[in-house]
Amino acid sequence: MNPVFLLRLALDGVAAGLLLFAFSYYWQGNAAHEVAGLSMFMLLMVHGAFHRRWFAGLAKAPRARRGKFNIALTLLLLTGMLVLLATSLVISETVFAGLRWDDDFTARRLHAGGAYWLLLVVAIHLGLRWPLLMATASRLFGITQPNRARTAVLRSITLGIAVQGLISAQALNLRDKLLFQMSLDWWDFGASVAGFFGHCLAVAGLCIAVTHYAMRGLRHGQRMAA
Ligand code: HEM
Ligand code: HEM
Repeated sequence: MNPVFLLRLALDGVAAGLLLFAFSYYWQGNAAHEVAGLSMFMLLMVHGAFHRRWFAGLAKAPRARRGKFNIALTLLLLTGMLVLLATSLVISETVFAGLRWDDDFTARRLHAGGAYWLLLVVAIHLGLRWPLLMATASRLFGITQPNRARTAVLRSITLGIAVQGLISAQALNLRDKLLFQMSLDWWDFGASVAGFFGHCLAVAGLCIAVTHYAMRGLRHGQRMAA
């Protein structure tokens, strides 16, 4: 398999890990949060550089519905990340403390709420590339033939993750976070660290699964219509 592609995927994995880590603000504290966040932004610049041709090709060739959704979502992702970066700079308490605004209340709300929206958007972004990621995993594990039992087990796990994702959204009080509401119910990291990351992963897994199966349904519908 192309080593550059594998390197790209490994860097994507690290970026996703840093994104996840940044949600645990009240676990490791401000400095670790800011360094992890900035490292993710740097990796995203590399990610953007790898995909520069994709952006260059945007103006060309009309696209199918799935292609248009992909473009819209990628542009939303880009805008969201730029907002997260901009708010990071003006609320920073450690790395860019000198840039901090006196009245940064709105920027803090935008930063925290926007971050939770981005968790969902990044998961949808991954859901759109799930066939590519699964094909890569199959190759790495040397899986060449389809297997009904394996598919059934994987689908059951996916269903389990999706159901857990709904429960986890409640456990994280995601609704309030997505509505940019102030709340004092921070996760108790003293009680469980793994629980917090597990809930975040389950919510991301739910979005990945819904996106992947919605896209499959769409493709199937188009084939039937044709
Ligand atoms: C991966 C990128 C980042 C994500 C996903 C992220 C996410 C978050 C979230 C969710 C919170 C709220 C914590 C909570 O209330 O549970 C937060 C707070 C904060 N973040 Fe980030 N952040 C990122 C990068 C950064 C960077 C690069 C900086 C500064 C250089 C920064 C500075 C802060 C500060 C100062 C707070 C405290 C805000 C407050 O007291 O309300 N963040 N961040
Ligand atoms: C932590 C955040 C992100 C993760 C984990 C992530 C992950 C991935 C993965 C796994 C792929 C497919 C493999 C590859 O080609 O590298 C991909 C493709 C892509 N990503 Fe991201 N990505 C993230 C953020 C972004 C952002 C902020 C943008 C900027 C707009 C972006 C733009 C793209 C583009 C344009 C593609 C290729 C799309 C295509 O071929 O249809 N990604 N991403």
